[in-house]
Amino acid sequence: MTLQSHARFITIEGGEGAGKSTVLAALREFLLARGFEVVSTREPGGTPLAEQIRSLLLDTHHEPPAVETELLLVFAARAQHVREVIVPALQRGAWVISDRFTDSSYAYQGAGRGLDAGFIADLERRVVGIEPGITLLLDIGVAHGRERARGRDLAPGASGPDRIEREHDHFFERVRDGFLARAQAEPRRFRIIDATQSAEAVAAQALSHLRALADT
Ligand SMILES: Nc1ncnc2c1ncn2[C@@H]1O[C@H](COP(=O)(O)OP(=O)(O)O)[C@@H](O)[C@H]1O
Ligand SMILES: [Mg+2]
Repeated sequence: MTLQSHARFITIEGGEGAGKSTVLAALREFLLARGFEVVSTREPGGTPLAEQIRSLLLDTHHEPPAVETELLLVFAARAQHVREVIVPALQRGAWVISDRFTDSSYAYQGAGRGLDAGFIADLERRVVGIEPGITLLLDIGVAHGRERARGRDLAPGASGPDRIEREHDHFFERVRDGFLARAQAEPRRFRIIDATQSAEAVAAQALSHLRALADT
């Protein structure tokens, strides 16, 4: 069984503070202005149950999950998200933009935690079954991304770093390399964007990729 690709399904990937949420808002505005229905969502999460699983994943109040527990929780949330939100939206013709999707599992639980990519691919085939038509990878150095995320998390009302944001730089270096390796392996789906540029420049590049896709 292969993955079903959906042209109107866009995912945005990259490390902490790369600017994923910022780009998502720009893409959403662009598509809404053209009269499309847009469902913007995020992972882990995207449904009430999946958001509860997200809290379990990111909380620091219980013992740290085993790496296998982390992987299965992420996929449990994704199974729900795909069935409750993403597939129904695509079936009614909406665009779906997700802040993170399965590539994040290959990067964080695979490259980052050292879990076998073949096992992740099995879960992807059996539990997810779909893939985006286009994935924007926002690439930025680990220190630079963390600096941006810190600035955001110091804003009034923001919560402090979550369990994964507390990881060491080495972990995030492996995550970054994991994302880049995914992009190299699937050049037709991925567009790598230099996320060190200004928010305006990043959004302009993301929109040009989206326009190219919409014209074809
Ligand atoms: N290109 C950019 N240049 C400078 N700051 C940015 C840029 N993109 C986003 N930011 C800021 O950096 C912080 C992290 O961006 P955010 O979109 O929340 O990243 P992510 O969702 O990838 O973690 C936010 O405070 C945001 O306003
Ligand atoms: Mg974000």
